Amino acid sequence: MKVKRIQASETRALRHLVLWPHLTHEQDCTIDIDDRADAMHYGVVFEHEIVAIGSFFQMNTPKLEANFPYRLRAMAVHPAHRGRHVGQALIHQAIADLKQQNVDVLWCDARIGAVPFYGSLGFELHPEVYQIPLIGAHQFMWLSL
Ligand SMILES: CC(C)(COP(=O)(O)OP(=O)(O)OC[C@H]1O[C@@H](n2cnc3c(N)ncnc32)[C@H](O)[C@@H]1OP(=O)(O)O)[C@@H](O)C(=O)NCCC(=O)NCCS
Repeated sequence: MKVKRIQASETRALRHLVLWPHLTHEQDCTIDIDDRADAMHYGVVFEHEIVAIGSFFQMNTPKLEANFPYRLRAMAVHPAHRGRHVGQALIHQAIADLKQQNVDVLWCDARIGAVPFYGSLGFELHPEVYQIPLIGAHQFMWLSL
């Protein structure tokens, strides 16, 4: 298992399979800022296949004060590879790299089902639960780096 930086285009298959199956085509599984200079896309490679993905973008949020915050989006592990610390390995590598760039906070809109995962990594949890259309319930979570 190896964590590495990947191209945005390499995230699309897992985004489609795991996160946005309601979209018709894999090619539609883009984020409007995927190609921005600050975007960092990570993948975990196992036996030549990308089995986990996560994308990180410089983004402020009114929900917290930070000098240089990053937002995590589209975090997904292939169903066959969950529960083996694959997701954790991806986040740990990304955090190490973000710290090198003096990023001070990492935040995300966490799907309810993923709240324990982020909690195990030290993220704090805002109590408000909100709905994102077509996806479901989320909670705001953040980690001071
Ligand atoms: C959430 C997700 C990314 C976790 O990935 P994973 O590789 O299975 O998680 P890991 O094995 O690295 O787990 C790390 C820790 O979190 C815990 N954890 C992970 N998912 C959990 C869950 N659903 N419930 C409780 N604990 C969980 C693990 O037990 C582990 O704890 P430990 O270090 O004490 O052993 C993965 O389940 C997934 O892709 N889910 C569907 C898509 C999704 O919801 N993405 C997040 C969008 S915000």
